[in-house]
Amino acid sequence: MVQHMYRLVAVLAAASATIAAPAQQLIYPRHATAAVLDRPVISIAIGTAWYPEQWPEARWATDLAMMRSAGFNTVRLAEFAWSTMEPREGQFDFAWLDRAIAAAHGAGMQVVLGTPTAAPPAWMSQRYPDILRIDENGVRAEHGGRRHFSFASARYRRFAVRIAAVMAKRYGKDPRVIGWQIDNEVGPPSFDDEAVARWHAFLTARYGTIDRLNKRWTTQYWSQHYDRFDQVPLHATGQQNPGLLLDFKHFTTATWTDYVAEQARAIRGVAQPRQWVTTNTMFWNAGFDHYAMHRELDMASWDNYIPDGRPDWVANGANHDLVRGYKQRNFWLMETQPGRVDWVPVNRSLDRGQVREMAWQAIGHGADAVLWWQWRSALNGQEQYHGALLGADGTANPVLAEAAQVAREAQAAGAALAGTEPAAKVAMLFSYDSRWAIDLQRHHRDFDPVRQFVAWYRPLRIASQGVAVLPVMADLARYPLVVAPSLHVVTQGQADRLAAYVRGGGHLVLGPRSGMKDDANALWPQRQPGPLADLLGAHVEQYYALDTPVTVGGGTADIWAETLAPGASDVEVLARYGTANGWIDGKPAIVTRRVGKGQITYVGAWLDAAGMTALAQRLLDQAKVGPVLAGLPDTVEVMARDGGGRRVLVVVNHGAAAVALPLPTGARAVAGDLAGRSLPAHGVAVVTIEPILPRQGEVAG
Ligand code: GLA
Repeated sequence: MVQHMYRLVAVLAAASATIAAPAQQLIYPRHATAAVLDRPVISIAIGTAWYPEQWPEARWATDLAMMRSAGFNTVRLAEFAWSTMEPREGQFDFAWLDRAIAAAHGAGMQVVLGTPTAAPPAWMSQRYPDILRIDENGVRAEHGGRRHFSFASARYRRFAVRIAAVMAKRYGKDPRVIGWQIDNEVGPPSFDDEAVARWHAFLTARYGTIDRLNKRWTTQYWSQHYDRFDQVPLHATGQQNPGLLLDFKHFTTATWTDYVAEQARAIRGVAQPRQWVTTNTMFWNAGFDHYAMHRELDMASWDNYIPDGRPDWVANGANHDLVRGYKQRNFWLMETQPGRVDWVPVNRSLDRGQVREMAWQAIGHGADAVLWWQWRSALNGQEQYHGALLGADGTANPVLAEAAQVAREAQAAGAALAGTEPAAKVAMLFSYDSRWAIDLQRHHRDFDPVRQFVAWYRPLRIASQGVAVLPVMADLARYPLVVAPSLHVVTQGQADRLAAYVRGGGHLVLGPRSGMKDDANALWPQRQPGPLADLLGAHVEQYYALDTPVTVGGGTADIWAETLAPGASDVEVLARYGTANGWIDGKPAIVTRRVGKGQITYVGAWLDAAGMTALAQRLLDQAKVGPVLAGLPDTVEVMARDGGGRRVLVVVNHGAAAVALPLPTGARAVAGDLAGRSLPAHGVAVVTIEPILPRQGEVAG
């Protein structure tokens, strides 16, 4: 069987060599494939997920002609087509995919290929039940859905790497293929025997000796002491030690990262370096540390859905900025909804115009691609009700016209946007460890770390019109203001780095619950903010979960209140609590201190929206960070992308009234609805400004 496969691979490789155009292997920059094909370089990819295997081949030309006339330039293929590509174990059929790629190319599309490993075929599930995922309750997955494999199964990984390698051998030098998406929305862990064995190996590698694990997890508590690593149960939830539960997240991170990296290596082993490798991720998925996984990938990409059809543009923008932070580079919007989804209780459609607004929002935040999911729903299968660009009859749904408008505009703006990246003067730190640790012990049901992050992001984003979301160890030097809404878990190394940032001239702002735990989820023996308390010259005296709001400064706080105790004489109290439970009455809620060339501020309460807005404005003013375009209502989103000596503004009016944009002289509209300076309700404007001029008080770059 294996021999058969290698023979087939050799034949396929020879066939693909005849397709591969370049005479010599060159390293092309991303998006430059079109140059190899004598076509204009595509700056912004616009297109769709297309599943030709679900349709008669006679239909393909019609689909592709419709995509072409919609202005699309990109299709994503093959991501769930394992049973079509490998219908029997070790027997591959790529003839159909060859023809689909050729047809797509003929219609002007560049191709992204997905490895099909989110949906293993029935022959595998049946012959090798050991590959099937087992949930935390011990229930084994069955064939018929997707994601029914175990991320720990060595056998499954061999199959996955093999299909990725076979595909890469065939298409890795194909100039029509620009990149690879590994799997699809990797996520659910497994609790099978192999996962347990990997867990023990993971803990052994992390702690070295069982004594060290016992120490970090404080296992004297409840007599949890372990004699050997193989005594440690594998659990994601339940009454387990917080150290174990946080390490479970570290374990899933390591296992999924390794799973994706295996396929990435298989592809890179044969593919030309110009073909990028990514995986498509989801929302604020808490399943693994996305920063860690993206070290193995060339580019981030994600799937942006608005399940209830009611976009909150600020919250959605935070998502884009989070994804951009994975690699601190532009990303792809690999999937987004053409109107509606089919997986919430009420699958409301986006309003007319909002599909376009969401697409331009993505581009403004750094997406170099917008691909709608999907072109046409399969006649059967689990997602019949999902939004699609075509109806079951193969004719356009109304939303296709909107997607086509985006395509036309992206083409018009493509040259201006090429080589530009989002500009931001403010950074926010997002830490998976902190999020997980809080979620494991919220202490207040409503202390949702994502909600809290967005509560800080909202006023910062609205007032500054540009926020970078970064991992804690990122280079922060270029940001005068760095906000960590809840840096709950902080290591000594991270604390040292943040202290250096402050001493070097930055302003670090920490929100409530910061500096409480280390990365084994153990309490720091100092009071909060733990290893940053000396720098702050103050500490948290006590924390309180609130069931009713309390007054603080001129406003209120809810959910959480910490009383702060200044130690150093140069600590300034910025706000105090009013009368509440006796414990917090009159105590400091916000303190700040200048240290070295910079400053550190600690905010001990979850302030109400007005309080957050006032605080954000104060912090931004102090950091001399102004908006890109001043004086606009909160419903207008201004996004700046800089590069090549120019600034491109993408402005989306999410509101219901026209607005006048205060554009600088020299601004030139390259796409959208701008009439003079007026941007209509739900309008989009893409404007270039050359050269970039620093605003008063701002430092360029
Ligand atoms: C995810 C998946 C797609 C599809 C969509 C539907 O993003 O990647 O295959 O199921 O959801 O919203």
